[in-house]
Amino acid sequence: MPSILPLMKILGIETSCDETSAAIVENGCILHSLTTATSLDLHAQYGGVVPEIAARSHIESINHVIRQTMSDANCGWNDIDALAVTYGAGLGGSLLIGVLTARTLAIVNNKPLYACNHVEGHVYANFITQTTLPGYSLPSHQPQFPMLALIVSGGHTQLVLFRDHFDYTLLGRTQDDAIGEAFDKVAKILGLPYPGGPSIAKLALTGNARAYQFPKAKMPKPYDFSFSGLKTAVLRTVQADCGKKYDFPSFELSGLLSESQRADFAASFQRVAVETVSDKTLVAYKEFKPASVVIAGGVAANQALRQQLASNIPIPIEYTDPKICTDNGAMIAALGCFKAKYNTEPADPCTLDIVPNLSM
Ligand code: KG4
Ligand code: ZN
Repeated sequence: MPSILPLMKILGIETSCDETSAAIVENGCILHSLTTATSLDLHAQYGGVVPEIAARSHIESINHVIRQTMSDANCGWNDIDALAVTYGAGLGGSLLIGVLTARTLAIVNNKPLYACNHVEGHVYANFITQTTLPGYSLPSHQPQFPMLALIVSGGHTQLVLFRDHFDYTLLGRTQDDAIGEAFDKVAKILGLPYPGGPSIAKLALTGNARAYQFPKAKMPKPYDFSFSGLKTAVLRTVQADCGKKYDFPSFELSGLLSESQRADFAASFQRVAVETVSDKTLVAYKEFKPASVVIAGGVAANQALRQQLASNIPIPIEYTDPKICTDNGAMIAALGCFKAKYNTEPADPCTLDIVPNLSM
């Protein structure tokens, strides 16, 4: 294990998708400030993120977001020990704005710059245990190793076994759509607003989760996932219920469904999606017997997923406040703290490049 450096206060910057976010985290566990500007409203009318619009919004917001978060934490540049920034995975144009901003700030203020993997960042949101900010419900302790992480977001679905910080094995991942993407696509079929995850979760509360039987994908490798078949099964069943053929415009289907049919579709889809990831997490739990099981990423905010996992797994499931499950600068700042603490080599601020398809 590399030598461990003293406590650090890190400014984290996250711009991989449609959130421009910055935060200050100390020692990987104390959240001092978090500021997020989102271009979500601008994308809602298109039913998904438009990369050009997201990049443009980052340019407009990033200076304000960083200034605000430093002011909220009562920090000047002398109080910041280092910067951390997401350099992948994500949308190229969006990542560029964050990385170029962080590079410039690191050079001008002569601070180390840590390059962070967005997906690893989601896991490190679970290490934040303290804040004086109002309205946060944080875990009481940090996860223990070995740690099994179920990472579920709009771009990723994967199971990762961490033996220690920065020592991990990717057990399996989705071979097509991510689970959050499936929530978003099914929401579109049901005429629900973007992002689809929260909309489906809300409508599912009033539906019958056993009204429709959708298939669970069987994969050749035990920890791989697939959600495109589930999404298509929902579409075909909606078409059949509406008495429409495959060529009927899918955006007109939801208008033909009753409110209770839509709720039943939402609940039945959510049940299968949640069971799919929770079944595989249980298999991995039995095989690897981790000390902690954490859920990370935007879909970790889903209450049905939290409940299903809690009833499946014999140890308490660890997750964090929904505000730091979805994309945010705090998770990147927390990851940066651990990179600094475990003596990871900082990036060269003159050359750090983006890696849009970065994997774990
Ligand atoms: O982690 P995230 O903010 O961005 C990515 O890295 O992709 O995750 C966004 C995804 C979206 O697909 C959104 O629909 C989903 O997380 N999501 C949820 C919930 N809240 C957000 N899915 C299910 N239930 C939720 N409550
Ligand atoms: Zn994310």
